[in-house]
Amino acid sequence: MRPLAALCFLCGFFLASTLSEFLGCTPRKSVPYHVGGNIKLFREDGVWNYSTMLLREDLGLLFLGAREAIFALDINDISSKKTQVYWNVTEEKQRECTYKGKNADTECRNYIRVLHKMDDNRMYVCGTNAFSPTCDYMTYAEGQLKLEETQGEGKGKCPFDPFQRHSSIMIDGDLYSATAINFLGSEPVVLRSSLTAIRTEFKSSWLNEPIFVHMDVVRESENSSDGDDDKVYMFFSENAVEYDFPSKLMVSRVARVCKGDLGGHRTLQKRWTSFLKARLDCSVPERSLPYIVQDVFLLQHSDWRKSIFYAVFTPQSGSSDVSAVCAYSVPSIGNVFSKGRYKTPVTVETSYMKWVMYTGELPVPRPGACINDAVRKLGIESSLGLPDKTLQFVRDRPLMDEVVQPLNRKPLLVKKGPMFTRIVVDRVTALDGQSYDVMFIGTENGFVQKAVNYDGEMVIIEEVQLFQSPEPVKILRLSSNTSQLYAGSETGAVQMALSECGRYTSCVDCVLARDPYCAWDPTAALCTTLSSAHSTSDTALIQSVKDGNAFLCPKPVIVKPENYTLIPGNNINLRCQSDINLAQMHWYFNDQPLNTSDTKYFFYSEGIMILDVSAADEGQYICQAVEQVKGQQYPRTVAAYHLQPRIEVTEPPPTPLPTEGPVVTPEVTPDRGPTRGEESPLLPQSSSERGKLVALQVSVALVSLLLVSLLLWNVHRGHFPLLRCFGARSPRRSGLGQAQSLSANSHQVPFQAKVSSEDKLLVTPSNCNASNNHSSGDSAGNRNHCPSPRVVSPMDVFKYINDESEI
Ligand SMILES: *[C@@H]1O[C@H](CO)[C@@H](O)[C@H](O)[C@H]1NC(C)=O
Ligand SMILES: *[C@@H]1O[C@H](CO)[C@@H](O)[C@H](O)[C@H]1NC(C)=O
Ligand SMILES: *[C@@H]1O[C@H](CO)[C@@H](O)[C@H](O)[C@H]1NC(C)=O
Ligand SMILES: *[C@@H]1O[C@H](CO)[C@@H](O)[C@H](O)[C@H]1NC(C)=O
Ligand SMILES: *[C@@H]1O[C@H](CO)[C@@H](O)[C@H](O)[C@H]1NC(C)=O
Ligand SMILES: *[C@@H]1O[C@H](CO)[C@@H](O)[C@H](O)[C@H]1NC(C)=O
Repeated sequence: MRPLAALCFLCGFFLASTLSEFLGCTPRKSVPYHVGGNIKLFREDGVWNYSTMLLREDLGLLFLGAREAIFALDINDISSKKTQVYWNVTEEKQRECTYKGKNADTECRNYIRVLHKMDDNRMYVCGTNAFSPTCDYMTYAEGQLKLEETQGEGKGKCPFDPFQRHSSIMIDGDLYSATAINFLGSEPVVLRSSLTAIRTEFKSSWLNEPIFVHMDVVRESENSSDGDDDKVYMFFSENAVEYDFPSKLMVSRVARVCKGDLGGHRTLQKRWTSFLKARLDCSVPERSLPYIVQDVFLLQHSDWRKSIFYAVFTPQSGSSDVSAVCAYSVPSIGNVFSKGRYKTPVTVETSYMKWVMYTGELPVPRPGACINDAVRKLGIESSLGLPDKTLQFVRDRPLMDEVVQPLNRKPLLVKKGPMFTRIVVDRVTALDGQSYDVMFIGTENGFVQKAVNYDGEMVIIEEVQLFQSPEPVKILRLSSNTSQLYAGSETGAVQMALSECGRYTSCVDCVLARDPYCAWDPTAALCTTLSSAHSTSDTALIQSVKDGNAFLCPKPVIVKPENYTLIPGNNINLRCQSDINLAQMHWYFNDQPLNTSDTKYFFYSEGIMILDVSAADEGQYICQAVEQVKGQQYPRTVAAYHLQPRIEVTEPPPTPLPTEGPVVTPEVTPDRGPTRGEESPLLPQSSSERGKLVALQVSVALVSLLLVSLLLWNVHRGHFPLLRCFGARSPRRSGLGQAQSLSANSHQVPFQAKVSSEDKLLVTPSNCNASNNHSSGDSAGNRNHCPSPRVVSPMDVFKYINDESEI
């Protein structure tokens, strides 16, 4: 265990240092999974795939669609199930499905994929139903869920294949869906299931092997000065037609249709006459193929012109581990469709088709435009009256030449690490009266990143582990009403509060978090959640989200030093740990910075070790966590110690080995087998014990030598300062890093074990251990969470290994 960690630390070091430095963000704090604490969990035995959700704030319920089941959960505590209804596939359906070559246990089941509220308060539900999509109505009455068993047709509304992505939305009683309409999953449609169903053409110029991601409606007809129509926007990725690229190239798209579209009269009969699409750009500052949209959230404003689509993107090649968030204003998308130029296919060398900008005359009315007052003036009341010329144009040229650019023409957030999967956004009014958009971004390893962009500065306030095992977040929902976030995965559904201000334990912590939900209340000495009542009445509250100005805070309480007895020749361990990933740890000895190049000090993530202490080491040691925000440094004393010589009194001679005491290595990860104290790796060992280990040491030495040479090579290459480790993923004790609790903790920790001079330590920062297989992304920007390890010579490394537990 130990040596693995040590070796992987070295190899992680090597990898991290060869990665190019990238503009990236590290969450300020990492909150480990803690069910019952920050997380409420729902899962039912034997049921999986919790990936469809419907929030019913009116009923106080969250409806959760899973495999062959729909649950009604208490919206305030989803671990409390109100009722449920099963919708199993029949044996007959399952048999048919398996005859067609599908897997009985996975594919030939009923996955609930569509769940919407109807205007009459009922709900509309569709499931894949063993590759035979079926829809039904569901009612919730007297605490019971009931399916009406109408066996409605689900083709085109719900995918056949449970592994295929799709999207749908209920607008004014009509279901709009984007999915494959056939068994093979090869015929994609965007369908409105109204009295006269309207859908897309089966043409690759319309949809070319799309992966549907999201749909939303924007009520652009409200108070429209030109009698415009509401628009339905949809987001997907598909194979590009507009690039000369040797292999398949995916691009992200946004498309839209007009809600009032009734199809054409002769041309485009029962087809969209308003289906237009454009490329959606989100360029990260590294050379790469176009990024692929994975999820979209519409942050609605009462004035639709101020509404914003937030989208997460991931690379298409898989070669990179950088995800991005881009935001698009609704008018910027609308303008591309209403004012932009079109692309047109031209034939090059007889068979090959190339898409170029269309430069000819446009028919009137404008192809793909919604029916507005100007069109009505031409005597055209609906799309049925549109002239053939307009319809033929849009049938053959649904792709716009212009590209939809994100706000500020660049991503809001770019982050290395586990891929982003889903996003929701909340608009929060801070104490300064301004609104900020707080993003909650789900990742492929079961975390959510909480991030805000302050005038171009991206701040990840924290990352919270939602699921115990590293599994993708498949759905995210946010309720402003309950101030809760809901997430689903294949194995469960969880709920967390949008903010837990109580986690910030001091004023400096509360202010530097820059969490717009939270402010410091100096009278109560608490970090409290801002409510609308607060923001007007209580001017004493302290918050500084834009600047993170912690000088607004009252003077902190001075940390009382702990007394340690100095026994010459011993090693002494002074603990100091911060839960802030971005903080640098600074040590002072009698008010002077500790000489970091002095080999008698060993720095590691949980403190320092002073080797072979002497009378000269007597004095005061102070450890500070220094956070840098907007160029300003904020030091905070985390721990203080006073080393005193032994006072000769009549106390019994010190026991050679304090039984619970000798915590020697910085192994604090709680769930990691026996405590180090029991192993006492630092204690002098008999030579026979050591002999047993020689063989093991030699093998480790060989591997180490290889790694160390890589390491040294890196050091020489000047990569050293790029080392980024991440406490991020290793679960830690909650509450660490608070000055008070830390100094309390350290009471149990000090050890003073006598060691011979050769018995040195291989101190592996446990936070950097390599079991963090998903954490590579946190490396960027994580300045000094881990110790800046001193350069150790290979020989030192071998000498340090003196115990099996180190190997
Ligand atoms: C359903 O969940 C199981 C268990 O996690 C998973 O193996 C399976 O792939 C999921 N099925 C779908 C269709 O996502
Ligand atoms: C929001 O919650 C309150 C109770 O906390 C409830 O009275 C209100 O109806 C809810 N709003 C909506 C839109 O459901
Ligand atoms: C449906 O399946 C669930 C578990 O998969 C089972 O508990 C339930 O009894 C089944 N219901 C019916 C009606 O077969
Ligand atoms: C539309 O106009 C009504 C009344 O004039 C107003 O109350 C409402 O806020 C307006 N809506 C929008 C989106 O501007
Ligand atoms: C530490 O020792 C000093 C005297 O050297 C004493 O005044 C102080 O109270 C002691 N502190 C604690 C916490 O015991
Ligand atoms: C720090 O320690 C190194 C090595 O012991 C020594 O050479 C150097 O002079 C010291 N620096 C200071 C400022 O004391």
